[in-house]
Amino acid sequence: MVPDTLRWDDGSLILLDQRKMPWETCFVTCRSSEDVARSISSMVGRGAPAIGIAAAYGMALASFGGEDIEAAREMLLASRPTAVNLRWALEVMDSVKEGSPENMLALARNLHKEDIEINRAIGDNGEALIADGSTLLTHCNAGAIATAGWGTALGVMRSCKERGKRIKVYADETRPRLQGGLLTSWELMEDGFDVTVITDGMAAWLMKSGKVDGVIVGADRIAANGDTANKIGTYGLSIVAKAHGVPFYVAAPTSTFDLSIRSGYDIPIEERDGDEVRSPYGKELLSKDIKVWNPAFDVTPGENVTAIVTEVGVLRPPYDSSIATVLRDVKAR
Ligand code: MRU
Repeated sequence: MVPDTLRWDDGSLILLDQRKMPWETCFVTCRSSEDVARSISSMVGRGAPAIGIAAAYGMALASFGGEDIEAAREMLLASRPTAVNLRWALEVMDSVKEGSPENMLALARNLHKEDIEINRAIGDNGEALIADGSTLLTHCNAGAIATAGWGTALGVMRSCKERGKRIKVYADETRPRLQGGLLTSWELMEDGFDVTVITDGMAAWLMKSGKVDGVIVGADRIAANGDTANKIGTYGLSIVAKAHGVPFYVAAPTSTFDLSIRSGYDIPIEERDGDEVRSPYGKELLSKDIKVWNPAFDVTPGENVTAIVTEVGVLRPPYDSSIATVLRDVKAR
């Protein structure tokens, strides 16, 4: 069974420690906003929607603990720069930051509950795009543990399975942190999927071999024109998919859109410590003095994206207009 990504328990936020999965199921207890910020930057909790919800609970912890609310907000916002869901959740929390800690907690709990419903809706909307018997390729982990539950890209697969569609999945290993090899393969196996792991460099040949009917990935930030930031390696997959006529789908909640950013060039890309590449999970592969470049995300141009699956429907190009229209509708609700 896939454990809860996060839960509120007796005045603390309990996060599944994703650095240890799938070998060990253990949890980190956060008692302050600083604990939450540290857990987000060190990848205890990861995945764009999940870190947004964690940050919302972080604000509740700050309020209960009598912390400086503005300082807590700044620290949480800075904990990871690319996923805009973090900023989105903090902006939602701003509406109650003058209120009581109980108000803050109630709103964080609500975001938590809503995220599961949102992922269910993404899954159901995406399911309609996938034919029975399809083989899908995914990258990183856009699953239940990257969200409050169900997942975005993996949520689409779960919805397919729920409707009786037979789906096979290839999971990119996803260097350097191996979210695909470790987390996605485990999550899907727990749910009885037929899943095969490949190393990232194998994806092009897999598609050339005609073994992939569709690529489906999550997103950390989508600009107004559909350019999509996601885990490093996604851009390359999109080029390969285009070259082989394979549809490339992005599954994400509308909280992942950032209309203040016109194109993907303006999305801030997190660069992480080179030791993630030199010594993955503490196992020394490269010597300390080897130079490493370690961007955690890349940007897939909207023109490579066949469709964006959201909780309110499936968006198609031209994204400038389809995204603007859907966000106007969401705001008007
Ligand atoms: O660095 P990570 O593991 O947080 O990166 C996660 C991804 O890139 C996911 O695809 C994205 O956040 C969407 S999760 C539903």
